[in-house]
Amino acid sequence: SPIGVPNLRECQLATDRSVVGPLTTVQLNCCLPIPPGNVIDFNFGKYKTTTKRVRMPAHKVGTDYIAKYRRAYELMRSLPQDDPRSFATQANVHCAFCNGAYKQAGDDSVLLQVHFSWLFLACHRWYLYFHERILASLVGDPTFSLVFWNWDDQRNGGNVMPAMFLPTDSSLYDAKRNQANLPPTLVKLVPGITGNNSEIINQNLNAITGTDLSNSTVLSAPLGGSIENGVHNAIHFWTGDITQPLIQDMGTFNTAARDPIFYAHHSNVDRLWDKWRYGLPGGPRSDHSDPDFLNAEFYFYDENGSLVKVKVSDALDSSKLGYGYPEVAADELWINYSP
Ligand code: C2O
Repeated sequence: SPIGVPNLRECQLATDRSVVGPLTTVQLNCCLPIPPGNVIDFNFGKYKTTTKRVRMPAHKVGTDYIAKYRRAYELMRSLPQDDPRSFATQANVHCAFCNGAYKQAGDDSVLLQVHFSWLFLACHRWYLYFHERILASLVGDPTFSLVFWNWDDQRNGGNVMPAMFLPTDSSLYDAKRNQANLPPTLVKLVPGITGNNSEIINQNLNAITGTDLSNSTVLSAPLGGSIENGVHNAIHFWTGDITQPLIQDMGTFNTAARDPIFYAHHSNVDRLWDKWRYGLPGGPRSDHSDPDFLNAEFYFYDENGSLVKVKVSDALDSSKLGYGYPEVAADELWINYSP
């Protein structure tokens, strides 16, 4: 049967384990606030947007865009911690729902963990959707859109840590990042690859080709699609601070979303899903039709701090959710790349 929403009154510590190096376990309290009022059942009418949001590549947005982005996160960071819209709670949502802090309602034997599964893409899409709405409402701009970290681009400058997240006095900064991977160091879409820049670029292209964006199942396969297991995880480990026991913040589930770059990273993951589904040669493709997939449900907080219940089936079409991405650049190297 499909995964159901958790019982928010029964929260336990979430556990993270190291995936590399000596075994380290970290437990964290990321229990979430329970807002007053009824849970809202998501519907498109209620969350209608009049203008479409277009998420742009982080390395291409201008000064005004960045200033507004900083302002939005400043405001989010300044909310009291127990406000569902606060940055602390937003980060805890990832820890709580993605990493075993709750049992599933009606089935105590299953801890909530959306990673390594076909729920991964849809759950993160909903997460970003509400995160973006909260930021937009904080800055009072309904067109406010997240940026995406265009790490799949190996030609036009997307393949480094985006500059907008780097100034240390900014609300977009996070100190727990790998200091050896600041620009101009190129991203590595496979952990541990070596070589000069053109060798790294080739291996990155291989990694994207290896996720096989033309194939119809790999993107959201039941045991975790190739995007999740490959390039998505690679960026998490590449960004996190390797002097931390679990490569915090980005390198482990509990803390990953404490870095504002997380949302830009996931925006690109979301974009690749969107492109795979609707916007690449050989498409459009189709998502799973299994009811266990379509009827799986999650909770998120909306821009008013209310709890909203959403399901996977409502997340499959980004345009219905009122946002989208620019077309994939015609000179995007991986489109016609053959290894
Ligand atoms: Cu919920 Cu990038 O992980």
